[in-house]
Amino acid sequence: KRILILNGPNLNLLGRREPEVYGSQTFETYFETLPALFPELDLAYFQSNHEGAILDKLHEVGFSYDGIVLNAGAYTHTSVAIADAISGITTPVIEVHISNVHAREAFRHHSFISPKAAGIIVGFGLKGYELALRSFL
Ligand code: DQA
Repeated sequence: KRILILNGPNLNLLGRREPEVYGSQTFETYFETLPALFPELDLAYFQSNHEGAILDKLHEVGFSYDGIVLNAGAYTHTSVAIADAISGITTPVIEVHISNVHAREAFRHHSFISPKAAGIIVGFGLKGYELALRSFL
């Protein structure tokens, strides 16, 4: 199965960004550990700080891949365009958040993505990506 992990804005700063919230590991280092855990999955990773680039990637893989694990970062709370893209593609999308967004500011409690997601994993740190990948097995 082909799966894309798609990270949105500021997630390129993982490891350096608010480590008390998001941990001290970079995503690249974490991603390197995944093939050994999921030998049966063909994993790809893409990160962008640009909403349009995230849309382009969803369109590119969204009719051929078997799954997308999406952490849209702050666009989760603002982007009707990403929500519409998820409606428009056929590949199921699992929404992941590293932090427990419901324990944080009120503006993080609403997600435009959640109604379109096949499932939602929130608050388990980077382990959330593994939980999402496991669901595709
Ligand atoms: C996040 C939560 C969002 O509210 C925030 O804007 C992020 C990261 C998370 O993974 O916990 O950038 O998606």
